Amino acid sequence: MNSTIRFDPRIHGISQQVKSLADPQSVYFEKARDVRAEYIDGGLHLYRYEDILAINRHPEVMGNGGRGGSFGQDGRLIPLEVDGPDHKKWRRLLDPMFAPKAMARLEKQIRDLARSLISEVQGDGGGDLHSMLCAPLPSQTFLGLVGAPLEDLDFFVKFKEGVVHPQGDTTEQIEANMAVAGAELLQYFDGFLKIKRGQLEDCDDLIADLLRSEVDGQPISEADLLNILFLLMFAGLDTVTASLSCVIAWLGKNPVRRQQLCDDPSLVRKAIEELMRYESPVPSGMRFPGTDVDLGGGLIVSAGEQVNAIWAAANVDPTYHVDPLRVDFDRDKSSHMTFASGAHRCLGSHLARLELRIVLEELLDLVPNFELDTDAVTYDNVAVRSVSNIVVSV
Ligand code: HEM
Repeated sequence: MNSTIRFDPRIHGISQQVKSLADPQSVYFEKARDVRAEYIDGGLHLYRYEDILAINRHPEVMGNGGRGGSFGQDGRLIPLEVDGPDHKKWRRLLDPMFAPKAMARLEKQIRDLARSLISEVQGDGGGDLHSMLCAPLPSQTFLGLVGAPLEDLDFFVKFKEGVVHPQGDTTEQIEANMAVAGAELLQYFDGFLKIKRGQLEDCDDLIADLLRSEVDGQPISEADLLNILFLLMFAGLDTVTASLSCVIAWLGKNPVRRQQLCDDPSLVRKAIEELMRYESPVPSGMRFPGTDVDLGGGLIVSAGEQVNAIWAAANVDPTYHVDPLRVDFDRDKSSHMTFASGAHRCLGSHLARLELRIVLEELLDLVPNFELDTDAVTYDNVAVRSVSNIVVSV
């Protein structure tokens, strides 16, 4: 079925069915077990791990931006909205800049920041960990990553919110409001790049690296630089805030499991992978096949479909994972799709993992016995799964 309506996962499809559920995992589990694939609002939803893997790996399936014009701005976000050889070219340039070794240079800065934010909560005897920790940490880390001054934080957060959480009930309203905030941000980045160019010799940050780089033997154009910056902000802030909020809320609700990590901090890395699998903070992504794709068992995805790949269902798919609704820090098969897979797999996964690990280590060190007000926590599963009102006493 080729649908003519433009499928928008923020207002269509399964995201509306799980909208504010605290535990959407059982819905995703049943979809993967019983349904495999279905159309909702004109979007073909894929729920199983192996099917989504095949779609993600297929050379003629385009990524999330395959049809262009997403996110209320005209340019193509690089690399998300680029496909084929062009996409490979950008990833070849960007991948080393986001490799674990490159991210390690941020470790001290992130640890100092995490300690100072958690110490404030400690000093106050508690507070809302969403607004006091999960939200500010990724924004301030991002400014450090790109080498922007901390004084710009309030301005930056205000317009970032307008882009990531635009107001509106229809796709048109959402896109229009997003475009207003997007224009402010582009103007900010534009001014910021001009300043950076003048200080290049003294700078050792991601933007300086990009300004010194060449693609196809040419310096990166202003428009491409802006599109990269815009996407990094779009892709790397709320996702980390959301992931931190999901993981911390889970540990708040499961104090015995939290104690397990306090007793053996070497489990933290595995616990993060397992909780990222279980919580799936980015629940889905769009894919656009340029040709028919035969997934076997009679399931053929036609060229031109709007495919909504549900990473959150793949992560609890019982045809792939053993006992997927159990959170097991020692799970053998830890593969998950929280960072997607294939050509468009997340560029920032190492940075995200670094931020998550450092925050957990510091939280478990400074306030291991925090008590969560479990009645206050509020879940939102549309676009990203995130938890607000993480009110704790310490
Ligand atoms: C825990 C936090 C994060 C999660 C769960 C996450 C998840 C994802 C997912 C699912 C995709 C695939 C999107 C799609 O194709 O539909 C993606 C792509 C991407 N992510 Fe992340 N992300 C996170 C953090 C970050 C960070 C910190 C950055 C950078 C600062 C980042 C940068 C990107 C970029 C640039 C892409 C596009 C890659 C491409 O199209 O080649 N992400 N991410």
